Amino acid sequence: ITCSAESKTVVIGLAADSGCGKSTFMRRLTSVFGGAAEPPKGGNPDSNTLISDMTTVICLDDYHSLDRTGRKEKGVTALDPKANNFDLMYEQVKALKEGIAVEKPIYNHVTGLLDPPELIKPPKILVIEGLHPMFDPRVRELLDFSIYLDISNEVKFAWKIQRDMAERGHSLESIKASIEARKPDFDAYIDPQKQYADAVIEVLPTQLIPDDNEGKVLRVRLIMKEGVKFFSPVYLFDEGSTISWIPCGRKLTCSYPGIKFFYGPETYYGHEVSVLEMDGQFDRLDELIYVESHLSNLSTKFYGEVTQQMLKHADFPGSNNGTGLFQTIIGLKIRDLFEQIVASKAAAPLEATKA
Ligand code: ADP
Ligand code: G6P
Repeated sequence: ITCSAESKTVVIGLAADSGCGKSTFMRRLTSVFGGAAEPPKGGNPDSNTLISDMTTVICLDDYHSLDRTGRKEKGVTALDPKANNFDLMYEQVKALKEGIAVEKPIYNHVTGLLDPPELIKPPKILVIEGLHPMFDPRVRELLDFSIYLDISNEVKFAWKIQRDMAERGHSLESIKASIEARKPDFDAYIDPQKQYADAVIEVLPTQLIPDDNEGKVLRVRLIMKEGVKFFSPVYLFDEGSTISWIPCGRKLTCSYPGIKFFYGPETYYGHEVSVLEMDGQFDRLDELIYVESHLSNLSTKFYGEVTQQMLKHADFPGSNNGTGLFQTIIGLKIRDLFEQIVASKAAAPLEATKA
């Protein structure tokens, strides 16, 4: 017996612009699988890869075909497909999926150069995260599940200011300019990928505070495609109905501006989807159990697992709002999807012998 078909790697795609919470999401995901992910031991200290028992997360920036100087000379951004090697991305993701190790390039974010490659062994779950996991149709076809983190311009701006101005000393003007400069390529090559995603986490300014522009309180929508194999959407109260829910009161402490949930069916780029929405933020994370007890189809292994995961990583960004909650839920859904795929493969050879 070769370790081919039966031990095939499950491949997950996570798309988002940089600085939009992909690393935070990955930390929540690997935690659901019960282990922290670390860079490969003894390798290049600037490697972008994260490895744990179950998962290997590779950063698609490693498939840049043009380094920083090359991009500058040609006048293209990292978002432009011309700066990326999709043939190699496809070959290597395909190989890993088939159980074959690859020598993956490393894009060094410090120097802006391409470093010598590193050996990546086929994991149980391979996550490809970055700007273009759903851009190339061949790569897209290899994905067992795909997620798009859709951060609205207002919120992206607020987060960038917080990081680049407060922590890195950039000016407001330079932050505005860098966002503006990326925007045409973002709109052309990154944003359109959301139509292919099985789940989209959309992050918008709150509707609970009129004309809010602080970007602190968020309205977050989890858009879940219907009819995806091994994925059945989470719902609130009653599957398929439309519900607006304000949980604040005796069982949930809410200070201004409160919390509002919404659930219902919608269409998204021509696909039937279920949407779960949370506007506002939690005051007390332990009370999340009250909200969790009203959600169904969470794919938890025990009562309260969502709340436990959220409490465990209370220090991660977004733990008090829908970004953390929905990232955690998608993590559980991916664990469930993985287990179903493994089970279906174990059953497959039996089916074959029956015939
Ligand atoms: P990426 O890996 O996509 O570059 P990170 O997960 O490192 O993004 O997040 C980048 C920064 O964005 C964080 O340091 C934080 O300031 C901000 N951020 C990310 N996710 C959230 C969130 N859910 N809520 C608030 N800020 C966030
Ligand atoms: C994006 C890419 C990075 C790239 C960065 C800056 O965030 O994900 O790979 O390094 O843009 O690009 P630059 O061309 O300015 O180095």
